[in-house]
Amino acid sequence: MPRGLFITFEGLDGSGKTTQMRRLTAWLTKRLGEEAVVVTRQPGGTATGDKIRALVLDSRSGGLAPMTEMALMFADRAQAIKEVIAPALAAGRVVVCDRFTDSTEAYQGGGRELGSETVLDLHRLVCGGLQPDLTLLLLPPLKGSLERARRRNAREADENGDENRFELEQEGFYGRAWAKYREIAQREPQRVMAIEGELTIEEVHERVIAAVTEKLAAAGI
Ligand code: TYD
Repeated sequence: MPRGLFITFEGLDGSGKTTQMRRLTAWLTKRLGEEAVVVTRQPGGTATGDKIRALVLDSRSGGLAPMTEMALMFADRAQAIKEVIAPALAAGRVVVCDRFTDSTEAYQGGGRELGSETVLDLHRLVCGGLQPDLTLLLLPPLKGSLERARRRNAREADENGDENRFELEQEGFYGRAWAKYREIAQREPQRVMAIEGELTIEEVHERVIAAVTEKLAAAGI
């Protein structure tokens, strides 16, 4: 069966992921055509997923147990795989996804201290053998990311709700998530390309393009 290429973006809130995803998508579309590229995000990306997203990210959803939070992330993921990701890959397309299981491992496994094993067990059950071909992990220093994320969320909240539940977490939570991301990168260097340090948007973009070019060539796309 032909298989496209599955690329995921990972990093803490405020790591510059959105900008880099947008630039990569523009680059891919120009090179391969609009039809060949599918862009999605987690949580969200399907009608069911958007409902889960609203539930899990709104700061008014108080008292969600860590296990509930993790189960909701995987419920969203199961739906996204079935509706969006698997069909696109089977059709030979390039899927660019904003967050995937590494986010659950970093935030719920690390941040909420559920541990990697629990997350990876659920991943095997829910996602089967599906792994990204390439994960672009943006890991600038923790402090700057947090400041950017907080500024952005203060701007975007309104009376219809917000997506701030995670940003209200304390620095300890983000420190654990950051460390877990590093651990994942060290464990799976073939899949995960960690881009660390204080770099310009352009410098990060160049590294992203170099990694993607290599994977596209290897996949014969
Ligand atoms: P989002 O607005 O996509 O954040 P960003 O734009 O910074 O990527 O919100 C997703 C939030 O959900 C983010 O704080 C990380 C969190 N999250 C988890 O905790 N676990 C997960 O499995 C996923 C996919 C996201």
